[in-house]
Amino acid sequence: MSTAAATGLVLGVDVGGSSIKAGLVDVASGRVSGQLIAAPTPAPSTPPALIQVIGALAAQLPGSEGRIGVAFPSVIKGGTAYTAANIHASWIGTDGAALTEQALGRPVLFLNDADAAGIAEMRFGSGRDCTGTVIMLTFGTGIGSALFTGGRLFPNTELGHLQIAGRDAEKWASARVRTAEGLDFPAWVARVNEYLAEMHRLFWPDMFILGGAVSERFTEFAPLLKSPAQLRPAHFAGQSGVVGAALAAIDPAA
Ligand code: BGC
Repeated sequence: MSTAAATGLVLGVDVGGSSIKAGLVDVASGRVSGQLIAAPTPAPSTPPALIQVIGALAAQLPGSEGRIGVAFPSVIKGGTAYTAANIHASWIGTDGAALTEQALGRPVLFLNDADAAGIAEMRFGSGRDCTGTVIMLTFGTGIGSALFTGGRLFPNTELGHLQIAGRDAEKWASARVRTAEGLDFPAWVARVNEYLAEMHRLFWPDMFILGGAVSERFTEFAPLLKSPAQLRPAHFAGQSGVVGAALAAIDPAA
């Protein structure tokens, strides 16, 4: 993460399985300036449909400078999507950054959504004082992960697809599964604990940061969580992706 002082408002966009959020982020503080706005993720979530929604959201938020950051639910390398677990399959091999640049006439940085959320938390949120190994997990339609050590990101970790008892972890312990199966917090947290135990066995993190909109209810389920690592809720909760996308846009090496 560069320490050069950055100022100004940068547009951050977070593409999720059910909604697309956007906000103007004051990159000197990590705060969203004004309202975070959102629109439903189009179905099917093809590149043209999705880029149209991003364009409509961007038009409602004038006043940003420079590159736009887009957090995307896929492995991203050089602007191109390589996977599509919760997004239309035609994204695989699509250069989302180039397409969005063409549509919006502005430079665009694409990065994985959980990596974006982790960047926000490590810079201004719950991980800002942690120099050890930190794993950020986002619980939403899927489970996103971002792995940091010494403050440096190891990108595109995809740990939501770790197999737990022969199942994809996110198909068993995501926030969407909690709602779809009507799980109460004890039943859902039992699954999350099993997932955290497996992650701990493999990575020995000093801290897990738990994010996604469900982390706004952290105090309700925190007493049920178990891990040898420290557990903290995401400071930016469901806004982490938007904030981190904007921070990464000004400092792609973050
Ligand atoms: C995707 C990841 C993404 C996560 C959270 C997973 O299904 O494979 O790339 O970070 O969902 O959106």
